[in-house]
Amino acid sequence: MHRRILFSKEQIDKRVNELALEISRDYQGVEPVFVGLLKGVIFFFSDLLRAISIPARIDFIRAESYGNSMESSGNIRITKDVEVDLRSKHVIVVDDIVDTGLTLSHIVDVVRSRGAETIKVCALIDKMERRTSNINIDYWGFRIEKGFVVGYGLDYAEKFRCLPDIYVLEEKVNNDTVKGD
Ligand code: IMP
Repeated sequence: MHRRILFSKEQIDKRVNELALEISRDYQGVEPVFVGLLKGVIFFFSDLLRAISIPARIDFIRAESYGNSMESSGNIRITKDVEVDLRSKHVIVVDDIVDTGLTLSHIVDVVRSRGAETIKVCALIDKMERRTSNINIDYWGFRIEKGFVVGYGLDYAEKFRCLPDIYVLEEKVNNDTVKGD
């Protein structure tokens, strides 16, 4: 598998700071609770939250849906729940990448069932091609049509998470194999 750079650290920093500014303006006078969807969101979440200029609370939730494959199974299981009381809170669910949208819409339902007053969604990457749920992404960093991306928290079978830039994985065409087989 070959990887090609898609978004550099500089591009990511710029976009994350813009998002933080936008969210800070929209939530002026409110103390929102940011709920990060583990594990892919870690770097995005920590960069975003350090750039937020209003008082905020943070918590995390973890859902399992992918296993080691590149496709969502659609079966979503909460493996780590939120710990703060979300009743009457203004919640922003923060995710790394939205693909089918099944995971995120399930999480939004969970947050709603905990009594949140308002819920918005923030995703670093909105990957549009395979969307099957009609989830509305209120804040997004980058929009891509398709492709499997890694780095800056995003993994493929737990690999590549710690790369500072974002890459797209591509099948490497090996001419020798093509010719020989
Ligand atoms: P969804 O339920 O299909 O929207 O899947 C969302 C989750 O699948 C994300 O939070 C990621 O963990 C994972 N995912 C989807 N696309 C990618 C990708 O391109 N790279 C890495 N993880 C991905």
